Amino acid sequence: MPDDGNDANGGTDPLFRVDSPIFTRKELLEIEHIPNEERIVGRDEQIKKVANALNPAIAGGSPRNMIVYGKTGTGKSLVAKHVTQRAKRAAENHGTTVGTAYIDCAQSNTETRAISTLATQLNDVGETEVKIPPTGIATDDYYARFWRILDARFDVAIIILDEIDKLGNDEILMQLSRAGEAGKLGSCKIGIIAISNKISYQDKLEQRVKSSLQEREFIFPPYDAEQLRLIMENREDAFKPDVLTSDVIPLSAAFAASEHGDARKALDILRHAGEIAEERDDERVREEHVRDARSLADVNRFRDLLQGQPTQAKLTVLAVAELTAARRESKIESNDIYDKYCELTTALDVNQLSQRRVYDLLREQAFLDILGQEFEGRGRARGSVMKFYLLEEPETVRQAIQRDAVFDQMNGE
Ligand SMILES: Nc1ncnc2c1ncn2[C@@H]1O[C@H](COP(=O)(O)OP(=O)(O)OP(=O)(O)O)[C@@H](O)[C@H]1O
Ligand SMILES: [Mg+2]
Repeated sequence: MPDDGNDANGGTDPLFRVDSPIFTRKELLEIEHIPNEERIVGRDEQIKKVANALNPAIAGGSPRNMIVYGKTGTGKSLVAKHVTQRAKRAAENHGTTVGTAYIDCAQSNTETRAISTLATQLNDVGETEVKIPPTGIATDDYYARFWRILDARFDVAIIILDEIDKLGNDEILMQLSRAGEAGKLGSCKIGIIAISNKISYQDKLEQRVKSSLQEREFIFPPYDAEQLRLIMENREDAFKPDVLTSDVIPLSAAFAASEHGDARKALDILRHAGEIAEERDDERVREEHVRDARSLADVNRFRDLLQGQPTQAKLTVLAVAELTAARRESKIESNDIYDKYCELTTALDVNQLSQRRVYDLLREQAFLDILGQEFEGRGRARGSVMKFYLLEEPETVRQAIQRDAVFDQMNGE
């Protein structure tokens, strides 16, 4: 074969690049990244409260249980993980062995999945000789093995149950909080940090669970634009020096503060802005990149919210978006939504549900904060109607929904 010289150049083919012209440590902007203490802004008080609740664990006592509430991007997961790590280290210095586990209940969304994930995280087969098969044993059996693991390995276990409202029932809270008193555990103590971005979760907790949890409740407030600016500035070293123009961080902060001060959104916008600049071969990140990044962040956030929703539910939301765009009117009667929904199902050749079912789906979307809902009286004689409205721009909703495979046929139109 003729040698065209490409082999020797394999590593330097200009089509590909190893070094980013924009980022040096992009991982600092990833949502999973847990920043160190110096990079955490405006959460001293919350960190202190969580630490106080965990404090008895340092000397091997029972930590207080807690539920942390707050809107999305207010640092709940971050603070819970950060303080737990520090408690573990402080305890070790006192000769106390603390085990820590974290589960996202949106993923481990059944009691069995949750307990088996916890058991797997805290186990060390070499030490306990307890096996945790991924499936095939009963929930009670997972619990039994879990208690054995805890007693064999730890003085105290601190368990973070994130997105607790996504769990089907409260049974796991009940079991974990009563384990000592019910004689399931010998010497190991358990502390629970449950996290929810729905303050209404309080009302859904059964009284028997509440009385057994005896939890403290903390509410994390949103950040202001100044705090968001600091959070981003503390991670500026994710970028190469002088790559960010001076208005990038303030503008990202202003966008992220416009609904409620959401650090997740701020960091998403900043990261996307860098990626967009990189894609366009621009040398610096500028205002226009931030504006485009904002739309992308909105679409992504909405798509995450919709993830796991059945196609039929997405169709009802799309019907609301189409009507909102066409009418320049935001609150739409459920009858009109149903007509539009039927048009869409016909156009897409998918199964059509009854009006009753569609109404239920709409209410479910409102419960999940995907849509807004309002009961509107029309005067005594005419009763009242339920109206639904979008919480995002119609275009954001359309783009997020149209990434679903079922909608591909529409994109061609
Ligand atoms: N006070 C802060 N200082 C620095 N970074 C922060 C702060 N608060 C949040 N962040 C960062 O913002 C992102 C979102 O924070 P986090 O995941 O803790 O939010 P959350 O309240 O758990 O939101 P959600 O309810 O959506 O899960 C993370 O990348 C986190 O590192
Ligand atoms: Mg979180």
